[in-house]
Amino acid sequence: MDPDVRNKAWEELRSRVEGCQRCGLCRTRTKTVFGQGSVDTPLVFVGEGPGADEDASGVAFVGRAGQLLTKILSAGGIDRESVFICNVVKCRPPNNRTPTQEEMLMCGDFLEAQLLLLRPRIVVCLGNTPLKWLLKTTEGITALRGRWFDWRGIQLFPMFHPSYLLRNDSRVKGSPKDLTWQDVQQLKARLDELQKGE
Ligand code: URA
Ligand code: URA
Repeated sequence: MDPDVRNKAWEELRSRVEGCQRCGLCRTRTKTVFGQGSVDTPLVFVGEGPGADEDASGVAFVGRAGQLLTKILSAGGIDRESVFICNVVKCRPPNNRTPTQEEMLMCGDFLEAQLLLLRPRIVVCLGNTPLKWLLKTTEGITALRGRWFDWRGIQLFPMFHPSYLLRNDSRVKGSPKDLTWQDVQQLKARLDELQKGE
């Protein structure tokens, strides 16, 4: 895609998100959270929705879960600044509840437009919400994490959500943290392989 056309579409999308009133979450949000990071990236991470820190700052994954995400990435040799990070819904669900089906239906095409404009090689789904939204699967993250899927020609890789890891702190073999360590290594290896071929 012509870079000027893409940039224009991207900025239009950003302003549509900022002004969005499609669902009730607009009444309780402080800021919309469009997502941030590199737009020339082979790798995009998708979470569920903003929490309190993200709602206040307008930036995705900056609270405790976000700090853990940064650590997981850097342990795997991935610089957070070099990827794009966003969520399925762009406004905070009250009390951090899971977004409803209706909220995801209203908001989900923003994410789809983001992915189609960014066209990364890999999209990582963090936890059940983005996985179920993008893959339209009823199988959960525990069954599907660490495996490769396709979303419209983009490789899709599910990993546990960092909030889940905060609640499950064990590092013993086979624990969610241990599996996530394996997943981030697998992710980095695939990324390196794809970039070698370019
Ligand atoms: N959890 C998410 O899913 N997204 C954020 O941006 C922060 C916490
Ligand atoms: N449930 C989720 O939504 N995410 C996880 O990572 C684990 C359980």
